[in-house]
Amino acid sequence: MKKTILITGAGTGIGRDAAFALAAHGHRVIATTFNVAQADALDQQAKERALNIEVFKLDITVPQDREQVLSIDIDVLINNAAVGESGSLAEVDMGRVRRAFEINVFSTLELTQLTLRGMIARERGTVLLVSSIAGRLPMPFLMPYSMTKFALSAAGAGLRAELDKLHKNVHVALIEPGAIHTGFNQLMTDRKYAWMGEQSYFKHLVPKLKAEEKRTFDFLEARDTRSIVAQIVKAAEAKRPRLRYVAPWPQGVMVRLARIFGV
Ligand SMILES: NC(=O)c1ccc[n+]([C@@H]2O[C@H](COP(=O)([O-])OP(=O)(O)OC[C@H]3O[C@@H](n4cnc5c(N)ncnc54)[C@H](OP(=O)(O)O)[C@@H]3O)[C@@H](O)[C@H]2O)c1
Repeated sequence: MKKTILITGAGTGIGRDAAFALAAHGHRVIATTFNVAQADALDQQAKERALNIEVFKLDITVPQDREQVLSIDIDVLINNAAVGESGSLAEVDMGRVRRAFEINVFSTLELTQLTLRGMIARERGTVLLVSSIAGRLPMPFLMPYSMTKFALSAAGAGLRAELDKLHKNVHVALIEPGAIHTGFNQLMTDRKYAWMGEQSYFKHLVPKLKAEEKRTFDFLEARDTRSIVAQIVKAAEAKRPRLRYVAPWPQGVMVRLARIFGV
């Protein structure tokens, strides 16, 4: 069955590739972007691929932008938009942590609430929350981001159980990508170096941290978004999606083992 699918943060990375894949499957795809320039570029890229995608700007932190979803009968909402933030919890400015929560958690849930109105009334719908394996394992120096994804994964599991009790055929599932090369991880890990000055507790560790981060991502990151996009398509098309969709699978296995052994 062809569905109407709205994706946030689709100007780049996983969101953009998921929009292309879902449109190629024949769905009506509404790909929303952080700003107008991204919307124009995405519109152009879709045309070059001969894909029919509707595009507009939807900054999820802007209430008027969010309200646009009220006029669309959305079957699947893919909450993909997010920002990365890094630094030690011993010294990171709480304003940075709040901003990450504002975007990755609170605005995401506000958009979800608006979309749920129509889904519950029509007794049909799926909400996907793009979380992360960083929402299952605490990641040192990435906690400002990692905590937002822990919150989002918890929210998704709880909201899913609540909606199940309504028996309205409205489902919630978590998409949990491992490290994937979109540029997101590099931007996120670098953010802390912009403010970790002379007074940082960890100043002496900076060269080591940078080298470790480079090694980790060079080793771990999937080179493209294919595996996670396949999981997004599967979850979006499922009649009753399961709770979690993780990819690439070796990173999913790593997380399970780490949790079992209490790392
Ligand atoms: N790549 C990974 O390794 C990885 C791993 C686990 C989870 N994830 C998750 O996967 C999702 C996509 O990430 P990605 O790797 O594809 O990175 P990305 O290309 O940076 O995608 C995130 C998108 O969200 C947009 N965005 C930021 N703030 C927004 C706002 N207020 N309203 C609307 N859009 C906003 C960004 O716009 P700008 O580019 O203009 O900021 C960007 O287009 C995110 O939820 C991320 O947390 C990624």
